[in-house]
Amino acid sequence: MICFIILLVIVDKYGDNNCFINVKMKLSISIKWGVKMTAKIVTFGISKGGCSKSVSSGVTSYLLSKEERVLAIDMDGQGNLTSFLTNEYDICNVFEEKTILEAIQDKDVRKYIIKISENLDLVPSNDFLATLPRMMYRQGIKFDALQVALEPVMEDYDWIIIDTPPALSEHTVMPLSTYSKAGSFAVVMFDGSMFAYYAIPKFLEIIEASKERYNPSLKTAGILFSLIDSRAKENEVMEESIEEEYPGLRFQTIIKRKAATRRLAISGFEENPELTNALEYYIPFVEELKKRAKQEQPQG
Ligand SMILES: Nc1ncnc2c1ncn2[C@@H]1O[C@H](COP(=O)(O)OP(=O)(O)OP(=O)(O)O)[C@@H](O)[C@H]1O
Ligand SMILES: [Mg+2]
Repeated sequence: MICFIILLVIVDKYGDNNCFINVKMKLSISIKWGVKMTAKIVTFGISKGGCSKSVSSGVTSYLLSKEERVLAIDMDGQGNLTSFLTNEYDICNVFEEKTILEAIQDKDVRKYIIKISENLDLVPSNDFLATLPRMMYRQGIKFDALQVALEPVMEDYDWIIIDTPPALSEHTVMPLSTYSKAGSFAVVMFDGSMFAYYAIPKFLEIIEASKERYNPSLKTAGILFSLIDSRAKENEVMEESIEEEYPGLRFQTIIKRKAATRRLAISGFEENPELTNALEYYIPFVEELKKRAKQEQPQG
């Protein structure tokens, strides 16, 4: 309920009452003109910090790009996904005015896409993404702005993978509000802690509110246990609680804490002798995600 109120306050701030109607209009225009939107959108989120959103979205992007075309989008001003995929840490200078913020402002993402590998592209972010709410307010930018910016490339990718910050802010609501005919999904990150446990229902409410308000295609792909310490005694209890409260929502794969996975931010994906070890838990997760996205794919 609290989240829904937050969302309504944000919406009121931007006077965005017609957004859902816009989505429906665009959908009917797309059908009429035979425009195919092929990319499935997956947004990784939770308002609790440090639950592995950036690492998980980065590794998922990498693994999906082995067989399909992927666009990764960094919606967090910390730029961790950007650094993870580019190995560039001076993001403020290197990506100055070359980020998702400018792409949203320009209503076209194409100029801001950078190539990571053959099938993997990225729209980076940097610290200036903090100004997104102010920009939205001043320029009357609505929650469909990311969708508008992505429209020219929707057919160029099979997947659009989005990392979000640890906040139920505009940076999170905007990706969740981004419609795709092929399906739009949220992955709820959970690190097994009590803090994250209580963040789950809030994020689920924001997902529900975004779906009702803007994005009828939005589905919760599942809750992903990540950064799980094999020795922690409370793991089983947490698994049971999640299963009981959110039946069928938990991904069967549990991403355990591994030094090799943490070191991916240093070693990268190329010529990394411990890559197989680092990706061990993510490979079955991505297979599960693909299956769920396929099952849940909206018809028509
Ligand atoms: N499976 C893993 N094993 C070991 N370390 C991991 C694993 N996944 C993530 N980490 C490490 O845990 C920390 C938090 O991960 P990450 O930055 O991806 O979380 P986040 O949810 O994106 O954080 P934030 O909320 O600040 O955006 C990082 O130092 C990362 O390298
Ligand atoms: Mg992050």
